[in-house]
Amino acid sequence: MAVSTASTAYATSVTSHSTLDIRHATFLPRRLRISPQIRAMVRETQLAPDDFIYPLFVVHGHGLKNEIGSMPGVFQWSVDNLPREIESIAKLGIPAVILFGIPESKDPVGLENFASNGIVQQATRAIKAAAPEMIVMTDVCLCEYTDHGHCGILNTGNGDRPHPHLPEGYVLNDETLDVLARVAVSHAEAGADIVAPSGMMDGMVSAIRVGLDAAGFDHIPILSYSTKYASGFYGPFREAAQGAPKFGDRKTHQMDPANAREALRETALDVAEGADMLMVKPALPYLDIIRQTRDQFPALPLAAYNVSGEYAMVKAAAMNGWVDEERVVIELLTGIKRAGADLIITYHAKDAARWLK
Ligand code: PBG
Repeated sequence: MAVSTASTAYATSVTSHSTLDIRHATFLPRRLRISPQIRAMVRETQLAPDDFIYPLFVVHGHGLKNEIGSMPGVFQWSVDNLPREIESIAKLGIPAVILFGIPESKDPVGLENFASNGIVQQATRAIKAAAPEMIVMTDVCLCEYTDHGHCGILNTGNGDRPHPHLPEGYVLNDETLDVLARVAVSHAEAGADIVAPSGMMDGMVSAIRVGLDAAGFDHIPILSYSTKYASGFYGPFREAAQGAPKFGDRKTHQMDPANAREALRETALDVAEGADMLMVKPALPYLDIIRQTRDQFPALPLAAYNVSGEYAMVKAAAMNGWVDEERVVIELLTGIKRAGADLIITYHAKDAARWLK
């Protein structure tokens, strides 16, 4: 009996003593969650409309505002409709747009890409005339302009291919660099504030830097798509921009989703070539890459591209009533920023800016 009484008493005293101990020795996390005001005061990551860059698809024609089937709420705009759309973007406090053009006709090189009356050049002039303070970024790549849908000049021809030792249809690197430099200069001539090469060609940043500098545009920054993965999440974009490859894929230049160390090596190269800003793309499956890039390259501004497929998934679930769109969008954008991105290119930008007001 005595033994059992003693052990019960001991157990009781240990329980109450250890509970008391924990409450005094550590903080109680719930103290700082008790009200919206206190939660706001200790919030570590602040999301704001000026973190956003809004993508715009521009097409030839008049009076056009074509909704993209797989991207509800996102449109292809004709140039005459841009000033009004830009005004609504600016009113929401979004400081920048990035332009993607759908050309009138396509060819193996993508001639409209660097034509002074090309669609992106026209759109850039129209936006800068209507809203000079709006930052215009342009995507510099070949895929929307080439008839084969690839991001560069192809190794084609029987026997007389430019590179007999490379496979038929291979995307040629240095031949493509010459075109990319011409495109960047042409965008700068039209008034673009920042050029953003997305083709993952080796040496693209230095080729564009040399081209811009030689043409008197040494003041134009380069936002390099420095870490761009060969991703299934670009599907809806390829409908929006009509730039899907007619055969094959982009795996000989875009990165393998399995690789993280390689991303740091890629990025170091772009920094050495003179990139002014870096990017990780897509965003959500690559938050670890955003964090590592932020930590390894703390001096450079870092953008993350929350891509079309990421947007489409959220829209589809929200339209089915399966998730609360506002909550999940603010949560995922906050997550991208918390991971280390300074800037977020996102199709949610206008909605998110409205919700943040
Ligand atoms: C290439 C480019 C692509 C995207 C941006 N720039 C497509 C690709 O690499 O196939 C995708 C963006 C998105 O999915 O939202 N010009």
